[in-house]
Amino acid sequence: MEIIFDNVSADFQIGPIRSPLVLHSVHLKIKTGTFTAVVGHTGAGKSSLLKAMNGLLIPKEGKVLVGKKIIDSRRNKKDIKVIRQKVGMVFQFPESQLFAETVEKDICFGPVNFGVPEKLAKEIARNVIKMVGLDNDILFKSPFSLSGGQKRRVAIAGVLAMEPDILILDEPGAGLDPQGKKDILTLLKNWNQDRGMTIVLVTHDMNDVALYADDVIIMEKGRVAAHTETRTLFSNNELLNQYSLDVPDVRRLQMKIEKEIGLTFPHVCLSVEDLAEALIEGGVV
Ligand SMILES: Nc1ncnc2c1ncn2[C@@H]1O[C@H](COP(=O)(O)OP(=O)(O)O)[C@@H](O)[C@H]1O
Ligand SMILES: [Mg+2]
Repeated sequence: MEIIFDNVSADFQIGPIRSPLVLHSVHLKIKTGTFTAVVGHTGAGKSSLLKAMNGLLIPKEGKVLVGKKIIDSRRNKKDIKVIRQKVGMVFQFPESQLFAETVEKDICFGPVNFGVPEKLAKEIARNVIKMVGLDNDILFKSPFSLSGGQKRRVAIAGVLAMEPDILILDEPGAGLDPQGKKDILTLLKNWNQDRGMTIVLVTHDMNDVALYADDVIIMEKGRVAAHTETRTLFSNNELLNQYSLDVPDVRRLQMKIEKEIGLTFPHVCLSVEDLAEALIEGGVV
């Protein structure tokens, strides 16, 4: 299921007043099964872009297509409902929205609200808790008794319980320790590779972009400044400079080695494994 933005402009309604445009003439196509990172300065429109993908921000002009369903200024409620289920949104610090007495009740809330019988919802809860790498017995604990990383996983499990085809996440690693963040991103990468789940996430960390994302969207002032493959982005230092994006550590090391030995490797290295291979193939080690 792909996401298409066709000339989308959007603003926020604040009572009777409308904010300035937060999305400007956005054209985008996010292909099924891809892992896309959205980057850019604070206030660039990253969160707004995500919200427009699941009907939380309605275009003022243009339309968003998710599969065959449409979100445009006519606000077709039926389509928006389907899209909310198909496109699972994980907000920044999603654990702040946990509320039920038990993890199980929290996870079952969404499906039950969408008309899934309770027994089936409980079965789904058992599946998704496993998907996020937690034990069954956590289902009967209070979400408030869990660690930060566990809470984050439970919150993500609650979104997975709606069985979305697309998962969009606003800085899913924010506030977690490095290992907790790595665990979450690895889970996402596995769902993307093993289940073909389409993933779109906002991140500030170019090391994560290099390691996990196939494609990158650079947002600037509500516009899509670039939409490119990850490897292409990190081979274009001009583009990185233009948008003040960091060079990933492994790429920085590659450039340093290349300068030192006066040789350019044929590929841009995005992981330690890539770099090791380039060094061996280039006869450097
Ligand atoms: N609920 C809102 N009401 C009005 N303006 C908003 C709202 N949310 C975001 N904005 C404005 O939209 C612009 C883009 O914000 P946002 O999408 O949150 O950027 P980012 O996620 O890249 O930091 C900013 O100028 C911000 O002030
Ligand atoms: Mg944001």
